[in-house]
Amino acid sequence: MSILVSGGAGYIGSHTVLTLLEQGYDVVAFDNLSNSSTEALRRVEKITGRSLRFYEADMLDRQAMDRIFDENPDITCLIHFAGLKAVGESVAKPVEYYKNNIGGTLVLLEAMRAHGVKSIIFSSSATVYGVPKSVPISESCPKGECSNPYGWTKSMIEQILTDLHTSDSEWKVVLLRYFNPIGAHPSGLIGEDPKGIPNNLVPYIAQVAVGRREHLNVFGNDYKTHDGTGVRDYIHVCDLAEGHVKAIKKLDEPDCGVRIYNLGTGVGYSVLDVVKAYSKACGKDIPYVICPRRPGDVDENYSDPSLAERELGWKAEYGIDKMCEHSYNWQSKNPYGYEGCQE
Ligand code: NAD
Ligand code: UFG
Repeated sequence: MSILVSGGAGYIGSHTVLTLLEQGYDVVAFDNLSNSSTEALRRVEKITGRSLRFYEADMLDRQAMDRIFDENPDITCLIHFAGLKAVGESVAKPVEYYKNNIGGTLVLLEAMRAHGVKSIIFSSSATVYGVPKSVPISESCPKGECSNPYGWTKSMIEQILTDLHTSDSEWKVVLLRYFNPIGAHPSGLIGEDPKGIPNNLVPYIAQVAVGRREHLNVFGNDYKTHDGTGVRDYIHVCDLAEGHVKAIKKLDEPDCGVRIYNLGTGVGYSVLDVVKAYSKACGKDIPYVICPRRPGDVDENYSDPSLAERELGWKAEYGIDKMCEHSYNWQSKNPYGYEGCQE
């Protein structure tokens, strides 16, 4: 039995492949490397002492998808990470985002169906809730209006997978709605390696901490929160990876159907709380400048993660201090990410 991981060379994909290998699963992974490097998977093999089967392939390429299933008949399910994820870029390039994320998923689903693989875990996002009416957000909160095409691709793929199960009850679907994944493997060998200027808070702070950027721009300090800066539910990427392994066990249950779980800690931290925790982790001040709000941002957003605990037996273990410590460990050992490593 093997687990197929799409987008396996990416940030969350590589940490999940590592967790799967550590827990004895065999892994087949593919990635088109549009936002990642095979170096991440080489390091995963180094850490775990195990190897995986990797394909450089694009999910829009039906022949390449068929080849992966033909050559690996032991694949039982897919963990689906592959996709483009930059919110701002999705506003500028909606066609590219819909084509890659939705078009690619449809090709992959056709290939799965043709090979009798009907179990899928999908990387969704808290963004599908839109502007939350109240916090904490539980899975029973209705989905909302997304503020960008990226968010809509997540929302629409959730619907496509739900419809697929309605059409054929053999399909088993777990939709995992992530809150804000940060941090890195404690070894410091793998971590988040954004191309260009980081869009997200912690990768940006990490680059300030190692001297690649002068200061953090804090987007707004007039939100309705304890210190005026935006509050989010940050979750360690290794905890997130573990959540996927727990979800595989749910797929094994005959009555799985379509399940939806928030993956978060249930605790919200403001931008300035994170700056403080990161300063402690790296032993120096993180300079910052207060700037105008970023369009589309909400005051606060954090999960009620209790359903995942009840039904998956999963709970986040790491707190904000370890998340920042591991992020800095990765960034200080690899200030320019995987760049410069031999491909
Ligand atoms: P990532 O960019 O590091 O990983 C995605 C991977 O998919 C990349 O390696 C990229 O090269 C690959 N990819 C993109 N299009 C592809 C295609 N057509 N064919 C094959 N491979 C393709 O991003 P990540 O942070 O690891 O996110 C993984 C998944 O989790 C994504 O679907 C993302 O939308 C979702 N997610 C991420 C966050 C977050 O904050 N990181 C939050 C919620 C949901
Ligand atoms: N922020 C700054 N400065 C920065 C970057 C971010 O102040 O340079 C602030 C934001 O305004 C926000 C907080 O830090 O208050 C977190 O911002 P991120 O960009 O790190 O994360 P978001 O909550 O905006 O978005 C993340 C993912 C999305 C996902 C969403 C779901 O990036 O993919 O969570 O809630 F859809």
